[in-house]
Amino acid sequence: MAVLRHGRHVLASLVYSQTQLHAAFGGVVPEVASRDHLRKLPILAEQALHQANVRWPDIGVVAVTRGPGLAGPLLVGVSYAKGVAWTRQIPLVGVNHLEAHLFAHQLAHPDAPPPLLGLIVSGGHTSLVSVPTWGDYRMIGTTRDDAAGEALDKFGRLIGLGYPAGPEIDRLAADGDPSAIRFPRPMVESGLDMSFAGLKTSASYWLKEHPRPPLKDLCASYLEAVVDVLCEKALRAARRLEMTRIVVVGGVAANVRLRAVLSSRAEERGVEVCFPPPELCTDNAAMVAACGYDRFAERGERDTLRLRPDPSLSWDT
Ligand code: KG4
Ligand code: ZN
Repeated sequence: MAVLRHGRHVLASLVYSQTQLHAAFGGVVPEVASRDHLRKLPILAEQALHQANVRWPDIGVVAVTRGPGLAGPLLVGVSYAKGVAWTRQIPLVGVNHLEAHLFAHQLAHPDAPPPLLGLIVSGGHTSLVSVPTWGDYRMIGTTRDDAAGEALDKFGRLIGLGYPAGPEIDRLAADGDPSAIRFPRPMVESGLDMSFAGLKTSASYWLKEHPRPPLKDLCASYLEAVVDVLCEKALRAARRLEMTRIVVVGGVAANVRLRAVLSSRAEERGVEVCFPPPELCTDNAAMVAACGYDRFAERGERDTLRLRPDPSLSWDT
């Protein structure tokens, strides 16, 4: 839950993490997530208003994620936002979660507008998107199977880490040798699409032959394969599209190794890379508000109270 002024200045941004709840099940159980959101949303709203030092009548627009995502949690959010729009008689704007991730960049670097090449790397998505201007998105590459974050989370499960495993792999890898084990780089040689499922499979075979692996080297080597593929694809896309600015967003963009490797490889090629601060990379409501505000104020878009969540919302809707 976040409160922004003019869609650009974050007055409050609260993230209620369900990590502990999900850890008990080793992943997200939709029904459990939905019920917990329902319980927590009104409480967070009051806290956000308090922190922003504003009251309900000060709120001019309400933005909410309408998809893609899990149906239950989306329904809880959309229903709550409709309630706010109706009772306060203010405009409602539904946003695409992936577009919202891109707006983390606008919040962090308002002086670096499109045209840009977006690399969205999260637990559910891995996409390369050309953004000539805000509101115009062309998907030019995507994963054919697992998302980058999913590849990390599934690997974490194989080696007994908690869920989500990305942050812990990040920490363990910092003290490991990324060249200790040579994992494959699927589909790295050509094209802009990606594939990460084979990487996880090769790690599971490797683990069968090496039952007591050096954990830090293992994490560093696995992470290196993911990072290598992401860097190659992003830089190839930038070269093809003659783009000189790459923007990396989504939970995996918080990864220390990805930030370091992509920044240095891009610099060698004269390409600028922007990463929002880690707290804006992982899911947060500030990016949703920024995106909703842009749709409403810059593009004149808004939704009616008939707005429906769309779990498989794509870029062109
Ligand atoms: O964007 P996000 O918060 O939620 C989705 O929209 O999916 O991304 C969550 C993903 C998870 O797979 C998590 O393991 C990964 O981001 N992640 C990280 C790091 N922090 C979160 N992966 C690598 N390094 C991190 N520091
Ligand atoms: Zn996300």
